[in-house]
Amino acid sequence: MSTASLQSWLSKEATVCPWTYGVLLSIGALTLVKFVFKTWVVFTQTFILPGKNLKKFGATKGAWAVVTGASDGIGKEFALQLASAGFNILLVARNEGMLSAVGAEIANRTAGKVETRIQLIDFAKNDPAALNALQTVLSSLDVGVLVNNVGKSHNMPTYFAETVEQENEDIVTININGTLRVTHAVLPGMIQRKRGLILNIGSFAGQVPSPMLATYSGTKAFVSIFTSALADEVRQHNITVQHLNTYFVVSKMSNIRKSSMLVPTPAGYVRSALSKVGLSCGAAMTGRPGTLTPFWSHAIADYLIHVVGWKARFISYTHSLHKDIRRRVLRKLEREAKKQ
Ligand SMILES: NC(=O)c1ccc[n+]([C@@H]2O[C@H](COP(=O)([O-])OP(=O)(O)OC[C@H]3O[C@@H](n4cnc5c(N)ncnc54)[C@H](OP(=O)(O)O)[C@@H]3O)[C@@H](O)[C@H]2O)c1
Repeated sequence: MSTASLQSWLSKEATVCPWTYGVLLSIGALTLVKFVFKTWVVFTQTFILPGKNLKKFGATKGAWAVVTGASDGIGKEFALQLASAGFNILLVARNEGMLSAVGAEIANRTAGKVETRIQLIDFAKNDPAALNALQTVLSSLDVGVLVNNVGKSHNMPTYFAETVEQENEDIVTININGTLRVTHAVLPGMIQRKRGLILNIGSFAGQVPSPMLATYSGTKAFVSIFTSALADEVRQHNITVQHLNTYFVVSKMSNIRKSSMLVPTPAGYVRSALSKVGLSCGAAMTGRPGTLTPFWSHAIADYLIHVVGWKARFISYTHSLHKDIRRRVLRKLEREAKKQ
């Protein structure tokens, strides 16, 4: 239809049925305004606005930051950067040697200005004695920040029917029970002191279902919804709870060794997370209260996924990607076996 005939059709329609025309025009205008507003909010939060000042949570005032999974990767970096911001640090994980090395690095970076403690625990064991010991330590500290970072994924993408039962159990126990137990132990103190920040490290696999990592994906969806509910409960006590929707970051778990525009180092990722506390960035206005996608390229990816809204397409893309990764991992294992 030419422009002239379209205009004449529209004017005829307007004469015949001005209400229909008006309603359609209003819906179109509202959709456009919402899109422009959302884009503006995502842009300003990601690139311009600063997050909450960490001093609000007790930095430089003797408060502690507790980081689970602090011996490596993203957790280690949270420990280092929160120490530099002026928190005493409780390092929680299994490997004593690696935790001590993180403690030494903190002492070195902060010239001994902050205190560091180590608490050894294997969250997969769900051992009541170890959990009670951790709870006792936590309730004796003025905890300003908790980073629920510990997490486990599948050893490689695998169909759920073929997953090893123990692997599924470990993933659920670490990712869900660990987060619940530690959060439950620090909250009463935070409520009493009327301040606190809890950062729950989630994954994009918990936002877009991830075939061949089904159990991991499900546990990270739990972390996301649990965070939203808890955030609303404790806001009245001046406590901020956020779910960090994390895309790929260089680490042992991701098996990615080189950073790129889409894959930051843990240092780069944590720097953006700690500078955007209280904001949503890429997750703004997407019906996910409490979710923050802090790193700039992750924020853009998250925004686009939700603007396009074609989740089924992303799920099937992830499925074929995981099939390919599994094929390559199995081939590598085969080659290594032949060498021995
Ligand atoms: N890297 C990514 O691309 C990515 C993407 C999305 C989400 N995430 C999430 O980010 C978080 C951190 O991942 P990461 O990539 O930094 O992993 P990572 O480098 O493998 O580090 C995992 C940390 O967790 C500790 N840990 C593992 N199992 C444990 C257990 N059973 N009990 C106690 N501590 C345990 C490890 O220390 P020990 O061995 O000393 O115990 C280590 O400190 C996870 O929740 C993960 O799901 C990561």
